[in-house]
Amino acid sequence: MCGIFGEVSLSGDCLKRTINGIGSLEHRGYDSMGVVYKTKEKTNIAKIISPDQSKSANDLYGEISNIEDFCPVALGHTRWATCGKISLNNTHPHKGEKSYLAHNGNIINVSKLKKLLGSEKFVSETDSEVVVKLIDKYYSKSGDLINSIEKVLSLATGANSFVLFNQDFPDKLFCASKGGPLLLGKTKDSVIVASDPAAFLSRDVKRENLYKIEHIVAVSHNSWEIIEKKRASEIVDPFLDNGKGDYPHYMLKEIFEQPQTIKNALNGRTELDRGNAHLGGLHDIARDLRKVETFHFVGCGTAYNACLYGAALFNRFGIDARAWIASEFIYNHPYIKPNDAFIFVSQSGETADTIEVIKEIKMKGNICLGVVNVPDSRIATMTDAGVYIQSGIEKGVASTKAFLGMISVILLYAVFLARQRKMTIDTGIGILKMARELPKMIALILEQEDKIKKMAKKILRFDNMYFMGRSMNYIIAEEGGLKLKEITYKHAESYPLGEMKHGPLALISPDFCSVVIAPNDSVYAESLVGIKEILCRNGKVFIITSDDYDFDLPLDNIRIPALPQKYEFMYPFLTVIPLQLISYYIAVELGLNPDKPRNLAKSVTVN
Ligand code: AGP
Repeated sequence: MCGIFGEVSLSGDCLKRTINGIGSLEHRGYDSMGVVYKTKEKTNIAKIISPDQSKSANDLYGEISNIEDFCPVALGHTRWATCGKISLNNTHPHKGEKSYLAHNGNIINVSKLKKLLGSEKFVSETDSEVVVKLIDKYYSKSGDLINSIEKVLSLATGANSFVLFNQDFPDKLFCASKGGPLLLGKTKDSVIVASDPAAFLSRDVKRENLYKIEHIVAVSHNSWEIIEKKRASEIVDPFLDNGKGDYPHYMLKEIFEQPQTIKNALNGRTELDRGNAHLGGLHDIARDLRKVETFHFVGCGTAYNACLYGAALFNRFGIDARAWIASEFIYNHPYIKPNDAFIFVSQSGETADTIEVIKEIKMKGNICLGVVNVPDSRIATMTDAGVYIQSGIEKGVASTKAFLGMISVILLYAVFLARQRKMTIDTGIGILKMARELPKMIALILEQEDKIKKMAKKILRFDNMYFMGRSMNYIIAEEGGLKLKEITYKHAESYPLGEMKHGPLALISPDFCSVVIAPNDSVYAESLVGIKEILCRNGKVFIITSDDYDFDLPLDNIRIPALPQKYEFMYPFLTVIPLQLISYYIAVELGLNPDKPRNLAKSVTVN
């Protein structure tokens, strides 16, 4: 969470480049933005806040009068508030005696660090200001800035990264990381530091010129000095991103990219003649995986919903599995057998709650696998092996295509592991062939955009609703409900449809609507019973169903392509699409920006 961008360059263009840079990181937080920049005469600072998500980095220009001045160093920050409310005083960069600091993370022992500053007065409520003041305190005593940074870095607990500009070093930036994401990239005339590969997309940074900061690095205009090299430099794939293109929002663009998302995930990984998935990332560990008794999926939010799908699919294929919400895992005191393996699912690969579980499982010595999107992210590097989902950069805070990428890769895992066990070659061939048809089917659903938009407009009048389904489509009800809450701020609850009669039915009235996912699968008849129970209580029902079933109920419906019943476990790939579009269009109708939902950030790097 929070985006940091800094640049050092003799071109003198660092201010504008830094404003652009933090603009490219807004998916990490957009509560407020700030920049500190050096000009010949002085060090300047500009800040704006955006509590209603109306502003973006470019609005900083309104606060700057000397934009054309020669600027060899600048440092910017876009904030997702953790420590202290959204206010100008809490906006980064924060100031010490001589240093300015942009910070990402959470200092868990901030009160202890504060005590080291005695009676020092603070302008902000942030832990970041404590860090910069403490560094400057040590620096004024010792005259050694690196040592001072090192000391504070070792005192602070929690996953953190920060970049610091000190007025005694007018042509340098100092970068530090203790578990927080921070990358360096060299361009032809500058060095950039950023908390996310997205910042390098529009710049001429070559992959071999990227470095992941593990400790402290001093950066100048054409080089950097690694103060303590813990690990050889790593290559980060910054993906290819062409911006929003003709789409008004990243979310819509990413929804429409989904036929390609599945192709990317399956590409080169389906061996039709052997009815198996070819997963290079699991090659070295395959023999150990054959011995695993139970697989535990772990993730948060949308990634957790992908975990629910994974557990259901594995069980259907005869492999024992279950899904865990990462932030709840430890409290459950789960009994882990020596032969159990874990599959950590994450788009960003930086989610702190998920990382905590990896640490716990590594301590126990069980196998840790990954299903991750961002290459070389923490989860990708901490796990023993894994498979990238290859969805490309996802900028919408509400995850869409990454979910599809996750369940695509999970389907490949399931085939691979089931083929190791009891699945026949013919079954494997059939599943993989069917999977390769999914992109076309998704494209057909996307062609119904106008019809889905009309349904969204009808749902708009309801402030409360249920999302429901049976079997695997209950999982999609969870994902649909999460999307709706995230970007429309409407109240949605997700239930297995069969649970209605055990209590939730009490809420049904003409002012309460239910979105039911009921394709013509093996539980369709039961789903219809549930729908009728709602209708006879005057509840409003919207249904996502398949195009092979004629029902005589007067329901607003979206039809998706039908699947043969033996492949009904692939319906989630299709049923999720209309739900993403419904939430998107409700948000747009309400005048909300789906790319910047309030209170949220793309990567949740705090516990
Ligand atoms: C999804 O729309 C969310 N914004 C959020 O729930 C997200 O899925 C969750 O924070 C996990 O993120 P990760 O996939 O990067 O680990």
